[in-house]
Amino acid sequence: MANCSNGDFDWGRAVEEFSEMKTGVKGLMDAGVTELPRLFVHPPEDLQSHPPHGGQLELPTIDLDGAERGGARRREVVEQMGKAAAEWGFFRIVNHGIPAGEMDGMLEAVKRFHELPAEEKLAFYAPAHDPRPVKLNSNLPVREKDPASWRDVLTCVFRDDQLEAQLIPSALRKEMLDYVKYMMGLRGLMNELLAEALGLPTDYLSNLECMSSQSLACWYYPVCPEPNKTLASPTHSDLTFLTLLMQDTTGGLQILRDDQWFDVTPVRGALIANIADLMQIISNGKFISVRHRVRAQAVGPRISVACFFGPSVRATSKAFGPIKELLSDESGPRYREVTLLQYLSSYKSKGERVASALHYYQI
Ligand code: OGA
Ligand code: NI
Repeated sequence: MANCSNGDFDWGRAVEEFSEMKTGVKGLMDAGVTELPRLFVHPPEDLQSHPPHGGQLELPTIDLDGAERGGARRREVVEQMGKAAAEWGFFRIVNHGIPAGEMDGMLEAVKRFHELPAEEKLAFYAPAHDPRPVKLNSNLPVREKDPASWRDVLTCVFRDDQLEAQLIPSALRKEMLDYVKYMMGLRGLMNELLAEALGLPTDYLSNLECMSSQSLACWYYPVCPEPNKTLASPTHSDLTFLTLLMQDTTGGLQILRDDQWFDVTPVRGALIANIADLMQIISNGKFISVRHRVRAQAVGPRISVACFFGPSVRATSKAFGPIKELLSDESGPRYREVTLLQYLSSYKSKGERVASALHYYQI
């Protein structure tokens, strides 16, 4: 039982061996692994309430129909979204304008890419710290001795909405370019609704350029041979401003609410929106960035696509702090200013098992 030894486990070597194969977690399954490799074994405290006893949770659902500028439901939607962002940090959005067929097409394309023969994916293989805008890996933990999670990911970064099309794998190029256009449109609306929900002028957030870039994480969570010993994604909060998540109907996403883990039931055609850490900072804590994780499962593969909205290229080194208009004599700033790059490095220096780096910037 090599997998169960503890004292003599060489983490660095295990990471090296796994990375050198360049076939990811999918490659382990293709090779017929029936026992969870030690690198992926999470300590019992991380698996707490797994399987969950918290049960299902009905997230607020926000219907965007009529939410456009001048739309009949604009004011109502702004109010609902403000409440959901403040009290839940996670909510569903429906009638967002992305046809269900487009969403299914993108999910299928992501699956098709990950299921290509290993040699066709090799050119995209690069570790998470590699600066190239398109890369495939398993997003291994950066902090020494931390367990790996049961997943692979293709990441495509559109800086200022731009990415050279030829760099995107042809297996999903068309679908991704279409999907990203929908994400840009929806980002425009979310910028406006969230700004108004904070009581700010409609264009305030878009003028901050805090969501002008997009990073698309195309996740593939293979079936897991021992799902109760690992996680598909460790507990974390997202670090930029806003995430829009599309998931297939497998399920497995959980959020931490009142210290309990709850399953977020997938709803076909709906997207999940969640507030990320830097949005919590600029909203001075009014909107909350909530911890979440993904359970490993005996069913799958599960596919999801997370679109993380982050600053424009020129705002990458700009300091973001609580928005001045939200401060008053009674409510002073609750966070120090931080640039995206600083935030990234404090998040990473503590590794993935630290849920967020927010507490470093708390006043
Ligand atoms: C993420 C994330 C959840 C999922 O990419 O940050 O939390 O369901 N993904 O894939
Ligand atoms: Ni996340």
